[in-house]
Amino acid sequence: KCIYILNGPNLNLLGQRQPEIYGHETLADVERACAELARAAGVEVQLFQSNHEGEIIDTIHRARAGAAGIVINPAAYTHTSVAILDALNAYDGPVIEVHISNVHQREAFRHHSYVSLRADGVIAGCGVQGYELAVARLLRLIA
Ligand code: DQA
Repeated sequence: KCIYILNGPNLNLLGQRQPEIYGHETLADVERACAELARAAGVEVQLFQSNHEGEIIDTIHRARAGAAGIVINPAAYTHTSVAILDALNAYDGPVIEVHISNVHQREAFRHHSYVSLRADGVIAGCGVQGYELAVARLLRLIA
């Protein structure tokens, strides 16, 4: 079995980008932690990051055949993208939405998520540990 971890725009800069909000750990650190967790349960992890909405949608389409579940941090597209919501609605497996920061404590435009209409669970404000929490939840859901 394989799960996808999808990250949207600017998350390639994790560790360098507004570290007071997003912390000092990099996406590679996140990937390592998640892969270890999943591998212990006999599950592979594939990590994708893109700054382009269409590439995220293409990856969700590939997940239809290739992934038992999806962890997604759509970043800013969370708050804007009906297209990503539609792509997730065409995907059958469990979806967990992650936000590193507590979006509800921030600007009002971050309080609404299109992706939450589809997500089976949402984790926000747990820092990059949120990815591990999301993987743990997915592993339970696909077990
Ligand atoms: C984010 C929150 C979004 O509002 C923001 O645009 C991001 C990251 C988070 O992980 O906290 O880029 O999804």
